[in-house]
Formats: sequence, C-alpha cells, structure tokens
Amino acid sequence: MVPDTLARGDDRALSVGGISIPVLAEQYGTPLYLLDVETIVNRAKTWMAQVSPHGTVYYAGKAFLCTAMVELMDRLGVGVDVVSGGELATALGAGMSPQRLLFHGNVKTAAELAAAVSAPGLRVVVDSLEELRALSAAAVRCPDNGPIAVLIRVTPGIEPDTHDYIKTGHDGSKFGFPIGEVAHAAVAEALASPHIALAGYHAHIGSQVLDPAPMAETARRLMRFAVEVWQQQGFWPQMVDVGGGVGVAYQPGADAPDIAQVVQAVVAVVAEATPPSLDRPRVAFEPGRSIVADSGLTVYRVEVVKQTPGGPTYCAVDGGMGDNIRPALYGAPYTADVAGPPRPGRATVTLAGRYCETGDLIIRDAVLPPVAVGDLVVVYTTGAYTHSMASHYNRVPRPPVVAVWRGEAHLWVRGETFADVRRQDVPLAWAL
Ligand SMILES: Cc1ncc(COP(=O)(O)O)c(C=O)c1O
Repeated sequence: MVPDTLARGDDRALSVGGISIPVLAEQYGTPLYLLDVETIVNRAKTWMAQVSPHGTVYYAGKAFLCTAMVELMDRLGVGVDVVSGGELATALGAGMSPQRLLFHGNVKTAAELAAAVSAPGLRVVVDSLEELRALSAAAVRCPDNGPIAVLIRVTPGIEPDTHDYIKTGHDGSKFGFPIGEVAHAAVAEALASPHIALAGYHAHIGSQVLDPAPMAETARRLMRFAVEVWQQQGFWPQMVDVGGGVGVAYQPGADAPDIAQVVQAVVAVVAEATPPSLDRPRVAFEPGRSIVADSGLTVYRVEVVKQTPGGPTYCAVDGGMGDNIRPALYGAPYTADVAGPPRPGRATVTLAGRYCETGDLIIRDAVLPPVAVGDLVVVYTTGAYTHSMASHYNRVPRPPVVAVWRGEAHLWVRGETFADVRRQDVPLAWAL
C-alpha cells in the first residue's frame, strides 16, 4: 500500500527513499508524483524470483511507462508488455531489445503492425482475425526478419471480482478470441501462414484481482485449450501467458495476494496439465500494478478548506482527476495522510480535486489529522494507472514524476508548463 521506505523522521515529516517529502515538494513543486525505486525493485525481484525458473515476467507498461522505467526493468531482467505504438517506441527508444517485448492491444493500426514486424524478435499478442491477416501481410514486407512470433489471445470466460471496467476475460469481452471453436479457427489460420510463427496462448482476465484462484483457473482453461488444439491440430505451445491483474491493497488492513502463491498455483496447473510426452510450456506473467502501484505517492498542496452547511468539509488540493482519474472513473479507493508533522487529533474531510467536475473527489470521507491551507497531503498507492492515464483537462499541465532512491532524487518525467499545454495548438485559419 505504501512505499517500502516510507518513514516519519525526527521532525515528524514524511520521507520516502530517505528524502523528506516537504523538501521534495519545495524543490519540484506540487502536485508531484513520487516513485520509490526501492519498492519497484523489491516487487520486480519478487516476481522474477518466482517466475524465472518457469518462464518470463513482462512488466505491463500501461500501468506506468517512461524511458527510465523501461531502463530499470531492463536492468532487472524484466521484459515489457506494450499496448500501443507509443509504448513500443518508448520501450525500443529506451534500448530494450525487441525479444523482451510483447505487443498487446485489441486494436493495432497498420502503422503499429509495421513497427512490430520491423523489430526482429518482438512477439505480438494477436486479438482478432483482422489483425492476424494484417500482421501476416505486414510480415511479408520485412522478409529478412522471418516469420513474426505471435501468441493468440483467448477469452477464457472468467469473471473475476473486480470493477466492470477492468474485467477483460469474461464471455462477451471485446478482447481476444472466445475460447473454443473461434480460437481453434484462429490457431488454424496462424498455423497456415508462413509469415506467422505461433508461439502460444495468452489470456488476461482483468486488473486489481485480489483472489489468486481465478488466475489458476485461467491457466487451467488455457491448458485445456492447448491440449485440445494438440489433439486436433498437432500444435503444442512454447509459451502460455496468463496476463497480469494481481491486485494491491489501497487501504490499511486490505489484503493483497501473495505473489509466490499466485505464481506457484499457475505453474502447478501448467505442469499438471502438460501431457507426459510434451515439454512444459514456459509460463509468462504481465504484472503492472503489482510492480509499481505501492511505490508511488502523489503530493498535493491544500488550497482551500471549505465547510458546507450540513455537508462535507472539503479539503481542496491543487490536483485531482487530471493526474488521477481512477476515483472519478471507477470509484477507486485511496488513502491519504499529511506530509508535514501531523497536528493532534483527527478530522473527516473530503479530499477534493481542483478540476471543474463535481465528481472530481480524490477521497470521500478521508480521516486525516486536521489540515489547513498550505499543508501538504500525500495520496498513497498512486504508482499505477495515474500518470499513464493523466490528461490536460482544464488545460492544467501534467505534474512531474520524480524517482527517489537511497537519498537521491531524479526527474523521470518533466512537469509540463503552460507552453507545453499550448504546444500542439494551431491558430485560427479563417479571417471570418
Ligand atoms: C493484457 C494485459 N496484461 C497485463 C495487464 C496489467 O494488469 P495489472 O496492472 O493489473 O497487473 C493488463 C491491464 O489491463 C492487460 O490488459
């Protein structure tokens, strides 16, 4: 839920990575995304230790991606799952080898497929027959790179207990080929193309999944499908990818799944379901949130404290839905604290954002030490799906991302200015 290095110092101010948060806020301004590198490294190493003997970890870049994050993953031996041409360009531009990348997405444009086939060794997770055909055609134009390696994304018909917007593997999902006849046909078509090298299967059931059981069930269904294909089409996968989705705690006392338990359950299913005459497929996982969420916190400055008659007391800060859309989008829960020395007592306030939407509430009924204008408030567990989903709504510049590690702070993403917000604007062309 919080960074591993979070502490309150002798001055009672919060620190992360060995640096006082008020000092970082003074240096970089607010709002400010902070990432604790130690926490990211610890989570990534936990995943690697569990998965490496059996397969591969691909960090899901959609959770948070920038050049330095790719470099960090690369140094830790973690691959990256990208979901757009922009994420692909970020990963390749940061120097990651295409062999360590997986290219996802239910829509990949012609330009994106062309970029994929020109990166030798990149694997594409194919989501539709249209894409399979377009990819095969694109691969013909890059004959030197040989057939393009693909995984077929299967919809396993599993509905985990999470918000509807982040379920992806249920019947009727827009993602993947429904498991069964449709997916069999996709495999047949992939096997028939000389420009496609089928490597295996993929499924991802959703995000912020707190129960390890559905992930093991995903592996079971993928393996059942693999055995059927083997019997009917004679193809056996090198890789079975069960996606990401392992949840984290957003509130004190909430449970998060144990990574070792999740991995072991999946690996056991794959081992058990592999017929004795065949090689066990490598298992791939794509954790995003589970690697980066806990490391992040967002620092805001309190701008207004407003008591409403008979209603909530709003503590309005200088950020909100532009830097963290999750509460407004799907009611995501967060926990906050004050960054400076806490005043005695507790008060219930609604932490409100500065954007022109009544729904821009970061936390309803947050219990905090009493706050006053000018105080710094931190919101925990904002490492995932905040910066990556940030917008320019209300023409507010996006905050910087600063990474801290062992007493040093470095910018990972510069904060924007008003000039950045206006950069792509083109003046009116008509005299009228
Ligand atoms: C295909 C795929 N893999 C991995 C992830 C990462 O999920 P999470 O960040 O919950 O681990 C997602 C998230 O939506 C996804 O769609």
